[in-house]
Amino acid sequence: MEISTVVGGPGGVNSYIVYDGSSSVIIDPADYNKISNKLKELNLKLLAVLLTHGHFDHVWALKQILQRFDVPFYIHEEDIKIVFDSKFNFAERFGFAEKGRYDFPQPVALHGGDILNFANMTFKVIHTPGHTPGGVCYHINNSLFTGDTLFRGTVGRTDCYFADESALINSLKIFAGFSDDTIVYPGHGRPSTIGFELSYNPFL
Ligand SMILES: [Fe+2]
Repeated sequence: MEISTVVGGPGGVNSYIVYDGSSSVIIDPADYNKISNKLKELNLKLLAVLLTHGHFDHVWALKQILQRFDVPFYIHEEDIKIVFDSKFNFAERFGFAEKGRYDFPQPVALHGGDILNFANMTFKVIHTPGHTPGGVCYHINNSLFTGDTLFRGTVGRTDCYFADESALINSLKIFAGFSDDTIVYPGHGRPSTIGFELSYNPFL
């Protein structure tokens, strides 16, 4: 399993292309051109789009990706009400409430503990509410994709619609259950490790 990081879209989101052989999934598609170029460059077949949560910057390229590739997209059931709504997904707040951009087809609803298999890749879905009610982390092998729940040295904001600070604090407890060498791939900024975060992140 390999990971290619593509940074782009409003807010500089990390979109992750996770691939094994020629099979790939995208986590949080933000920049359509960069992602489609990277898929072409690596000669990858896209099988699915996984969302860590429903905020507009993490789905900035979702509609274009789904128009170009006939694949399902996955989001926790609690964030479905957020992702389609340009107010709740924070687009209005930042001036990105373009008409039609958030008119997606129906997603596949996720729940905590779900196991997703794509070719030889197996992702475990971990529900980490707080930044949004349906925020999730995806765990595969030694990698943890944390969206806007956990960043290098900090955590996600809790002033968003349906955010819940005490839920976030509770969600952060799960990170102590991973080995120190687990690599953290956040929704924004540089990667980290669980060991680094447990030592230096004041929120953990
Ligand atoms: Fe977010």
